[in-house]
Amino acid sequence: MARIRQRRVREMMERDRRRRHYLRRRRAFLLSSMAAVFSLITSTSRHVWVRNRSPGQNFWSEAKSFDNDQWKAQFRVNRTTFDYLLELIGPSIVRRKTNYRKPIEPRRRLAVTLWWFARSGEYRSIANMFGVGIATVCTMVRQVTSAIVDLLYQRFVSLPSGPRLEITIQAFKDRSYPQCAGAIGATHIPIAPPRDNPDDYINSNGWHSVILQAVVDHNSCFTDVYAGWPGSTSSVTVLSSSDLYLKAEDRPDGYLFPRDKSIMSDGVEVPVHLIGDTSFPLKPWLIKAYSQEHQLSSEQQHFTYTLNSARSVVDTAFMRLKGRWRCLLKKNDIDVSMMPRVVAACCILHNICEIQKDCFLPEWNIEMTSPGNFVQPDTAQYDGDAYCSAEVIRDTITHNLLSILQY
Ligand SMILES: *[C@@H]1O[C@H](CO)[C@@H](O)[C@H](O)[C@H]1NC(C)=O
Repeated sequence: MARIRQRRVREMMERDRRRRHYLRRRRAFLLSSMAAVFSLITSTSRHVWVRNRSPGQNFWSEAKSFDNDQWKAQFRVNRTTFDYLLELIGPSIVRRKTNYRKPIEPRRRLAVTLWWFARSGEYRSIANMFGVGIATVCTMVRQVTSAIVDLLYQRFVSLPSGPRLEITIQAFKDRSYPQCAGAIGATHIPIAPPRDNPDDYINSNGWHSVILQAVVDHNSCFTDVYAGWPGSTSSVTVLSSSDLYLKAEDRPDGYLFPRDKSIMSDGVEVPVHLIGDTSFPLKPWLIKAYSQEHQLSSEQQHFTYTLNSARSVVDTAFMRLKGRWRCLLKKNDIDVSMMPRVVAACCILHNICEIQKDCFLPEWNIEMTSPGNFVQPDTAQYDGDAYCSAEVIRDTITHNLLSILQY
């Protein structure tokens, strides 16, 4: 018996090692294709556009005299936030003067990009509105997008730690869910059919998309963003390729957040964790609701209800993200290889607006089911859970919800 058990343990360890190895390889592959995207951006040849346009008389020249409401309606951020953004990325989007023409000033570059994020639209009409060349619009959107991602991602998007973690846990506790540091979710972003492997991008509702996986805090701010997997990929595959997953699973104890924040209940350690829908796997660091296939006890029903209502912050975040930046709502012209960066940039801008209290206007609300909008695919339940310690943690929270909340 003992020998058999030893062999089982060895086999299990070996399987685990192979799985980690596989994950690393897949990640390396992914990163190498991302590197290709980077070089694609930097090697874009800029077209020479020397034609002089009639000065004045376009949208941009009028924008200077917009009142605050008009400005915000056009650029989705108010002037204060716009100036703040310009301060953050302006120096990195300055272009050198050439012999042909004066370079377009950073303020206009940022304005073009925000306008495009807010509605996508044709490059031709944007070019006319802002008095720039058509090819320039495309180049500027790429350049400003990259500047936002490279300069601001780490500063504005990170999992909570220290005092921010305390605040987050407390805020979820106020929503009757304990030990929670964020909610994870995924959403599909429509794209035009890409040239390479277009079928991989068709999701279960039949349209082409890339997936955004995100972790969101109690304020519906993004704390982790992972975008770009083809629409046909399952939540669990996207998750297991993400940095987030490696970060949690690479720790010897398999927890994502510091264990000194754990609570002991009924002799079980209840760690700080994320919450997700049933398409995600159950892990000690990622708790999800019970499958509705079985008859649930009233305690389990209550747990499921509480978890799902705490999880709604993800839906709010996605709704605001897409309502503000509508280039994520319909197919747009930009190359698919650029989409992960566009999505990330929009998430960063969303956070900056939320932090600045530059509020989301009711008229930006999107009716997801209205005709012309893409209906999100249903999430398929993940049934491969066999992580016994996570089951124990979930059962412990379920049975002791009230006492854990009073902790
Ligand atoms: C922009 O919004 C912030 C937050 O509501 C506010 O403090 C600021 O005064 C606004 N700026 C303008 C120009 O309206």
